[in-house]
Amino acid sequence: MELTSEGQKAFAKILQLAKQNNIDIKDGKLRRTSSRFCLGVEHGDYNGTELFGVGTDRFIWMAYKPNGTKKVRLFSGNFPDDGVIEFELGNVPEPKSAGIAQTWGRFPYGVEYILRRQGYKLSQGIDGVIYGNIPGGGMSRSASLTLNLILSMFNANNIEIEDKMNIVDLAQAVENDYIGSPCGKLDQIMILFARQGMGTYYNPAKRTIDYVPIGPGASDFRIVVLDTGTDRPGLEKSTYAVRRAECEKLVSILQKANYDISCLADIKDETVYKKIMVEFGETHPDLCDRLRYIFDAQKRFYKMLEAWKAGNIETVGQIFRADGIGLRDDYKISGPELETMCDIVRTVQGVLGERMLGGGDKGASGALVRAECVEAVREAVDTAYTRSRPELADKYAVHVCKVVDGVRVYEGLL
Ligand code: GLA
Repeated sequence: MELTSEGQKAFAKILQLAKQNNIDIKDGKLRRTSSRFCLGVEHGDYNGTELFGVGTDRFIWMAYKPNGTKKVRLFSGNFPDDGVIEFELGNVPEPKSAGIAQTWGRFPYGVEYILRRQGYKLSQGIDGVIYGNIPGGGMSRSASLTLNLILSMFNANNIEIEDKMNIVDLAQAVENDYIGSPCGKLDQIMILFARQGMGTYYNPAKRTIDYVPIGPGASDFRIVVLDTGTDRPGLEKSTYAVRRAECEKLVSILQKANYDISCLADIKDETVYKKIMVEFGETHPDLCDRLRYIFDAQKRFYKMLEAWKAGNIETVGQIFRADGIGLRDDYKISGPELETMCDIVRTVQGVLGERMLGGGDKGASGALVRAECVEAVREAVDTAYTRSRPELADKYAVHVCKVVDGVRVYEGLL
């Protein structure tokens, strides 16, 4: 398999970093894990909805090789100040310890910790170098890194996992139990299973994946990610954790009132929904707003899927936009810079839909754009975003993305 030109650049950087930091990756492998773009239901994973998304071509690359010892030695070109992260298998800091909160090393520590906790016998350490170009906040950089580390550790230890959904669970456990991030499974699913040119559909009741190509005749479009240049703190420190707790609270209130549900996605019936809104609208207006978003977005989800299958990207875009308004006004998970980006690109002809992406507050927004209008989007953002947010003029970025495989392994390069 050939490396793309971006891949070649990353690979060259990795070789240089390996040399500088004395990391031995000769005859090793290179594994590339993607980012993801969710088309629905954003914030649906921890509310039990079905999910749909694609893998996008911003990546984490890791070159590694088993080193014949019990030591793990890793260097990240994205966090050079952390130096080489070095530890013995079986000997990593306690989960969520204060000393590791600021280092990216908490990811490999967490992978080792969770794999061991789940009974996997790791006897082989690795030497590795990592480099990535996934912007933080909205494109699942942390899930991509975690998956890359898990797959590489398994590979170095000759461990094969038949049911890939187990890998999703392990990666989520690294973030939930070790790092302390309350993320769901959306990111891991949309990266691990992603296939070039395909949408990935996840059914939570059956824990199954189906691939859905976009229907024939769809007008040529691009996925554009609008990085606002803001840093999003971990999900545990952001509105995300508050929203999760609110949704759980509403579920428990409804269960006590004898509604037979286990998550907000179980409220699908219009009559039941309306009854709840009447019954709790005055006492719990905020919680009802959260439900309104999930209820409406879930209804739109099926329309979006049908439109995707029919190649009707205009409708997919309209639904994406409607979801964005719900995320902004009902779910209240967007942020000022994210909305500045949306407000700018929505003025451009050929933008089919736009909204905030991922965890919320900060990070990136996204848009579905007719291919021939991508440059106009770039120009509009360059002009208007810098006027509106001058302090971020050196930090924002526009990424025009392709739909790609979630995981690729390159052998014979090193
Ligand atoms: C973050 C989380 C995911 C998901 C999205 C919102 O990316 O990691 O689990 O909840 O936010 O859809």
